[in-house]
Amino acid sequence: MKRHLLSAGDLSRDDVTLVLDTAAELAKVASRPVKKLPTLRGRTAVNLFFEDSTRTRTSFEVAAKRLSADVINFSAKGSSVAKGESLKDTALTLEAMGADAVIVRHQASGTPLRLTNWIGGSVINAGDGTHEHPTQALLDAYTMRERLGRLEGLRVVIVGDVLHSRVARSNVLLLATAGAEVTLVGPPTLLPVGVEAWPSATSYDLDAVLPKCDVVMMLRVQQERMNAAFFPSAREYSRRYGLDARRMASLPEHAIVMHPGPMNRGMEIAAEVADSMRSTVTEQVANGVSVRMAVLYLLLGGAEPAIGAEPEAEEVVA
Ligand code: NCD
Repeated sequence: MKRHLLSAGDLSRDDVTLVLDTAAELAKVASRPVKKLPTLRGRTAVNLFFEDSTRTRTSFEVAAKRLSADVINFSAKGSSVAKGESLKDTALTLEAMGADAVIVRHQASGTPLRLTNWIGGSVINAGDGTHEHPTQALLDAYTMRERLGRLEGLRVVIVGDVLHSRVARSNVLLLATAGAEVTLVGPPTLLPVGVEAWPSATSYDLDAVLPKCDVVMMLRVQQERMNAAFFPSAREYSRRYGLDARRMASLPEHAIVMHPGPMNRGMEIAAEVADSMRSTVTEQVANGVSVRMAVLYLLLGGAEPAIGAEPEAEEVVA
């Protein structure tokens, strides 16, 4: 693996397998009474979040703590960023404090790449604008592999607001590398210009693709990134692109329903679908911790085995 994780497209098929296999090993820690490994003791991870987040920030924090790293949560609100400090000065400050990993979420695409100019440690992209969210794609792949046994040859349908979705872009790149077949479905206004060049197919007809898929991934309609009317009404959107119980019934028996969260219940996904047996929404969150542990371990951990050693007894200081 490279030093940074900026794009799902930087991962080879072997990298993906390595991360998912490592995550599967590390997942075992979650079932122990003491959910902690000493692997990253003495290392510092900084959560640098300029955009709101519930799942991703806490997931990285839990992951780093389970590996015994120190975690600093740096949110733009309440820091000198609110006083106008530049990204570069913020980065240089973190660098001076000895951050081994900087996990960054920012509203501007490309911010993680810029940070690599100033940060000596690893930079992990936790979502940059509408661009990428590689650890989400990894945890989605982990969830698919765990539920369906493989990634190769899986037929994955990604539905909705592809235009504003860094989750969709990272998933398309990673799933193409892993040998899955992705179809993007949404209103023409919510599919990005140039989508023909992506390693995926497109369709405007959800009902036509559902009976032939293994995975349906619903995307949140990202109202906060919309500066125009992309569809006539919420009701019309749901009618054409929402996943309700009737549509879910047309899926093959084994197919799963995914959503990265946060969900707009009643808009892109009906509550009864979100809470159904097919839904992997909460599994995705749980798997996110294992996958982020794997990413932190592989980027920072060096040669020690990730798992095997029991947590060391704390030294008693007299
Ligand atoms: C996604 C994100 O922030 O890109 N959520 C997440 O990380 N769980 C998707 C979204 O906001 O809709």
